[in-house]
Amino acid sequence: MSLGISKRLCSLLFLSTFILNFSVVSTKDWISRRDTFANRLQWRLQALLEDKAQYYNVSFSAAIRTNNRTVLAAAGVNDQATGERVSIHSLFPSGSITKCFTAVGILQLVEEGAFGLDDALAPLVDKALLALHNTTVGALWNNDPRVQQITVRHVLGMQSGLQDYDDPWVFNFTLNHPTTDLTPIMYLKSANKTFKCDPGHCGSYSSLGYELLGYALVQAHLPHLTGASSWKQYDQLSAIPEPLRSEMKHILFPVQGLCAAYIKQGLVHQYSSRDYKNFFDLMNTSCLNGWTFGNIAAAPSDTSNFFLHLFGSERVIVKNRTLVEEMSHFLELQTGWGIGLPYGLGLEHIFYPVYRNTSTNISIFGHGGIDYGSMAEAGYLVDYDFAFGFATNSISGMSNALSKKQNGHFWFDIKCNALQIALEEIGKGEWPVLDCSLNSLEMVPRPPKDMITML
Ligand SMILES: *[C@@H]1O[C@H](CO)[C@@H](O)[C@H](O)[C@H]1NC(C)=O
Ligand SMILES: *[C@@H]1O[C@H](CO)[C@@H](O)[C@H](O)[C@H]1NC(C)=O
Ligand SMILES: *[C@@H]1O[C@H](CO)[C@@H](O)[C@H](O)[C@H]1NC(C)=O
Ligand SMILES: *[C@@H]1O[C@H](CO)[C@@H](O)[C@H](O)[C@H]1NC(C)=O
Ligand SMILES: *[C@@H]1O[C@H](CO)[C@@H](O)[C@H](O)[C@H]1NC(C)=O
Ligand SMILES: *[C@@H]1O[C@H](CO)[C@@H](O)[C@H](O)[C@H]1NC(C)=O
Ligand SMILES: *[C@@H]1O[C@H](CO)[C@@H](O)[C@H](O)[C@H]1NC(C)=O
Ligand SMILES: *[C@@H]1O[C@H](CO)[C@@H](O)[C@H](O)[C@H]1NC(C)=O
Ligand SMILES: *[C@@H]1O[C@H](CO)[C@@H](O)[C@H](O)[C@H]1NC(C)=O
Repeated sequence: MSLGISKRLCSLLFLSTFILNFSVVSTKDWISRRDTFANRLQWRLQALLEDKAQYYNVSFSAAIRTNNRTVLAAAGVNDQATGERVSIHSLFPSGSITKCFTAVGILQLVEEGAFGLDDALAPLVDKALLALHNTTVGALWNNDPRVQQITVRHVLGMQSGLQDYDDPWVFNFTLNHPTTDLTPIMYLKSANKTFKCDPGHCGSYSSLGYELLGYALVQAHLPHLTGASSWKQYDQLSAIPEPLRSEMKHILFPVQGLCAAYIKQGLVHQYSSRDYKNFFDLMNTSCLNGWTFGNIAAAPSDTSNFFLHLFGSERVIVKNRTLVEEMSHFLELQTGWGIGLPYGLGLEHIFYPVYRNTSTNISIFGHGGIDYGSMAEAGYLVDYDFAFGFATNSISGMSNALSKKQNGHFWFDIKCNALQIALEEIGKGEWPVLDCSLNSLEMVPRPPKDMITML
């Protein structure tokens, strides 16, 4: 702990020297001023990550992107067994950030006129379900007529009334059957088929809706597929337009098999726990993570890039602005997981606590993602025109010197402080002051899921 403090002091000293240097850079020398801006952000971010990685005994990776600058930083141990460290290119399982890619894939089909947002979902998935699994969405939901009333917009916006999968059960299954992948059809078959409400009548987070959207993508793009495991032939990166794909080489969508099989490609080790005291590496468990609702593994460089190109000045991922605006038509979740969280179409409206004495709030269009041994968040700051991506390879801080509660605060602590640094460097003299303190979470007007679960 004393190490952490002296390190922070040291950072402060270094920073003041840096500011002094900065102020003597000639205003005529545009190039070095420009570089100084990026270098300063880079340096502050890297120092923060190293400090926090050591303090919490975990690894972090972060990216900040403006229209003309990319700043990447990473710190901490990747493999606790060998001491190998993470890099800015390491791929972190990022869970529900997958939903943004699935949603964008669907919106592109809407853009092309394949179907409308308010069209019924069942006919868009039944051909694929029949060809692959000899079933239909109606048969899966015991012929409940309400399943036919679900629209594409309902599932994208968490308004379908469908239940979510049983997360504690899946966690146990994953640990107890490490060599078995829970396939998409297994999720659908095992789901609780009771409706939370009639379709369109409540906001209730359901990953299963995004599993069905996966079959809609298969049916639209690969109509001739047959065979129970051919769903994995759908390329989840195909939602990214060709010219941008070369800028997104640090994204992987694992299908079947152990996480260990993807480590050569840069996948991180992930640290999970049942009791938040003893941690274990998930490398020998399945990395499928629910397919189109949860399987992305990415470097923050690329998830931030995704959001910059979705909402930044050059919107190239979904070109139709009406559709991009539809994405940010937020409705609050009312029941189940994440009550109060405003959800759009494959999009969360994320808030961070701001000191009450400041006159601004920050509004983020983005998405969080949690797996059993990693967490990520990425988004776009509407008022400041920059995007970010953050990731960690653990479900909690793992420091022996900290309490469970302190270790549990690690994720909010790192994200909030990294965002604060980005706001200060990019905000051009005016920026909101975030309250990153431990007890600030009670102040968050509408806390995102991970803030709730990490308390
Ligand atoms: C980067 O973009 C910002 C915002 O468009 C602009 O103000 C700034 O001059 C640009 N900087 C460089 C070095 O091009
Ligand atoms: C498909 O399902 C139908 C009815 O549910 C059944 O009669 C038929 O035998 C099944 N076909 C195959 C190939 O399993
Ligand atoms: C998960 O497994 C643990 C021990 O293996 C057991 O105590 C717990 O009740 C199980 N939870 C669920 C939801 O099945
Ligand atoms: C399914 O969900 C309903 C409503 O939440 C609950 O009452 C019921 O017990 C659940 N069924 C099973 C089999 O878990
Ligand atoms: C994973 O499995 C491999 C091969 O069986 C084994 O060598 C390794 O120690 C295991 N690692 C963990 C963390 O369980
Ligand atoms: C954009 O999408 C909306 C909603 O689907 C549609 O009404 C509109 O015609 C589209 N605009 C263009 C230019 O294609
Ligand atoms: C708001 O309060 C915080 C914490 O007390 C303080 O650090 C900050 O300077 C204050 N800002 C303004 C604008 O008064
Ligand atoms: C910030 O958001 C909270 C909750 O939505 C709201 O009560 C408050 O008025 C907002 N503050 C400003 C300055 O917009
Ligand atoms: C860091 O975490 C690892 C893995 O959980 C653990 O073995 C080690 O004792 C921890 N070290 C410290 C200093 O907390």
